[in-house]
Amino acid sequence: MSASKLPNVGTTIFTTMSALAQEHGAINLAQGFPNFPIDPILQEQLLRASQENVHQYAPLQGLPLLREKVSGLIVRQYKRSVDMHEILITAGATQAIFTTIQALVFPGEEVIILDPSYDCYEAPVHLAGAKAIRIPLTDSFEPDWSLIEANTTQNTKLLIINNPHNPSGKVWSSTDFNALEGIMSRFPNLLLLSDEVYEFIAFEKGHQSIHERTAVRDRSIIVSSFGKTFHITGWKVGYLVCPKALMTEILKVHQFLVFCVNSVAQATLAAYLDLVDVNLLKGFYQQKRDYFRAGLEKSRFELLPAEGSYFQVANIRGISTLSDTEFCRELTIKHGVAAIPISVFNADAKDKGLIRFCYAKTTATLEEAIEKLCKI
Ligand SMILES: Cc1ncc(COP(=O)(O)O)c(C=O)c1O
Repeated sequence: MSASKLPNVGTTIFTTMSALAQEHGAINLAQGFPNFPIDPILQEQLLRASQENVHQYAPLQGLPLLREKVSGLIVRQYKRSVDMHEILITAGATQAIFTTIQALVFPGEEVIILDPSYDCYEAPVHLAGAKAIRIPLTDSFEPDWSLIEANTTQNTKLLIINNPHNPSGKVWSSTDFNALEGIMSRFPNLLLLSDEVYEFIAFEKGHQSIHERTAVRDRSIIVSSFGKTFHITGWKVGYLVCPKALMTEILKVHQFLVFCVNSVAQATLAAYLDLVDVNLLKGFYQQKRDYFRAGLEKSRFELLPAEGSYFQVANIRGISTLSDTEFCRELTIKHGVAAIPISVFNADAKDKGLIRFCYAKTTATLEEAIEKLCKI
């Protein structure tokens, strides 16, 4: 057996909990995927595209028409004009993040990750021979800017942020962006990777994008996911936006990682972007959030604020003294609802008695889950 390049990586908690949910016939509120049908208009466009001549390799950077439509979307949403050469269509946000890190981060450099963090950030940092510096968010999931700055050095290549946030559902305020800009101005070589896959799912506060922050966007790689926006997580199509100088390097890795992304999906999305209003997504999920929260009001779970993304964090300390991981196992096996323990998103596995539910589910599924959760 050769040595492992990623000795600490095993099966992810999402796979483990989904398998456990299946084994015990539990409702899966663990893994973050929608369980409702896609828009029939998107289905029609997929059928139409499949009958066209779009079945061979797409251009390296993505179908020009799709990049044109993405550019239009960014102008409409964020009033930023983006050149087609600054957009790369990727195999989901995961590939965008992996490719960016491989292309831009050198061995020995440091990358700051804010915990709890989504699980696809750290492994590519290790594979690049770099060091991940995991910094905890505050108890209310806000960036601790003085701690972040104290850990930023001339050797820090990249800061990874995620807003709206998975797993907490936190949405950043202007003060966070101002603090971020302050650090970026004091460390002129620092780059920013902004994971905005839930950009269209921000409720009362609304989403502020790095696309709108003129002081830092020219040093940023901004990542989006059609999977999250159009309920098509299995298609694995997303995109990143970055300045041309960074794109040149990112394309070199992209070329040998995937070369190009699913051509039929790209052709479908290019047409669909003219037919859909992404601003409806927020209301769609807000209704689900409100339904789920109202249903759990009578439960013994303490619900934390859910400002964006499609996750609801709940405190279990009023119910159990088990660790969050043990509690989630028991919840799945004994009570028939699967959730994710928040400790797995922390480098130090710190357990604060918090678990994450995904409410991107049909009303019927949510209703059934609420009934079970209220009995605990
Ligand atoms: C914060 C965050 N970033 C990235 C991804 C990956 O997105 P994709 O499925 O487009 O690769 C996810 C998926 O759950 C996520 O929650």
